[in-house]
Amino acid sequence: MFPIHRPRRLRNHPQLRRMVRETVLTTSDLIYPLFAVSGEAIAQEVKSMPGVYQLSVDKIVEEAKQVHDLGIPAIILFGIPVDKDQEATGAWHDHGIVQQAATAVKQAVPDLIVITDTCLCEYTTHGHCGYLEVGDLTGRVLNDPTLELIKKTAVSQAKAGADIIAPSGMMDGFVQAARAALDEAGFQDIPIFSYAAKYASAYYGPFRDAADSTPQFGDRRTYQMDPANAREALKEVRMDIHEGADMLMVKPGLAYMDIIWQVKQASELPVAAYNVSGEYSMVKAAALNGWIDEERVVLETLTGFKRAGADMILTYHAKDAARWLSN
Ligand code: PBG
Ligand code: ZN
Repeated sequence: MFPIHRPRRLRNHPQLRRMVRETVLTTSDLIYPLFAVSGEAIAQEVKSMPGVYQLSVDKIVEEAKQVHDLGIPAIILFGIPVDKDQEATGAWHDHGIVQQAATAVKQAVPDLIVITDTCLCEYTTHGHCGYLEVGDLTGRVLNDPTLELIKKTAVSQAKAGADIIAPSGMMDGFVQAARAALDEAGFQDIPIFSYAAKYASAYYGPFRDAADSTPQFGDRRTYQMDPANAREALKEVRMDIHEGADMLMVKPGLAYMDIIWQVKQASELPVAAYNVSGEYSMVKAAALNGWIDEERVVLETLTGFKRAGADMILTYHAKDAARWLSN
């Protein structure tokens, strides 16, 4: 008889465990989300997201320097405009809040990659991610009129200095529309980071506080995906690849690890997981109560995303994780 296999032999020393470790999380994997508001010297903590702030542009710049010093390669910018309207003017205006923030950050920290979220929900009166028929109170977003506004938004963000455009509205054809608009405006080299498989999730709750983007009526189920569907995610992904996406995102993260895995297998493009607001808030709440070990839980979760196939992780824990990883 052969001796029984003893996998524990390889677990007996920390260095040995290090040698056989299959997945390594590094600071290079992280993308840090930031919320820009107008004004000066503003840092307004988001109630449901301890440690996350709405920041005026001057503060965003300070934060961007810190993020860069921590070794995090990129931020993603969201904006809270002063005024909202039917056409989401604040999203595509050349002096919109995200445009201002992008320009200021690129000027102060040219080495930091600036991704801009390209969507309309923070900028529309009704809080939907697209254009509604005037007077519509059902929230039935009109696809093609929305594409026109997404195109303008993408181009104005690129003009403001964004390095990467990230359309997140889940309209059909949004990658192709954004690509064509960017190319036509001379931005052939700006990559499109597509929120390829984005589910209609309750985990976005705290984000909507942060970004002031809660739909005033209806919900997002006619454009975001049904959480029960996996094959449909692969269909969305194939469409986005075909339309010219450069990077793919799966969102949310934790409840969708299988989707991350399948998307990774289905494509050669870099894949990102969005560790969303509700996932962050749950960890924070438990940690603040002393119920879990925050550092270990966060690093374990982020490693899990990598093991599932994510090349990058958008996370509100990015700064903390970068500090823990450098210890
Ligand atoms: C909107 C958008 C959402 C998030 C990023 N962009 C969610 C939504 O309201 O549908 C969620 C991010 C998070 O929860 O952290 N296009
Ligand atoms: Zn949106």
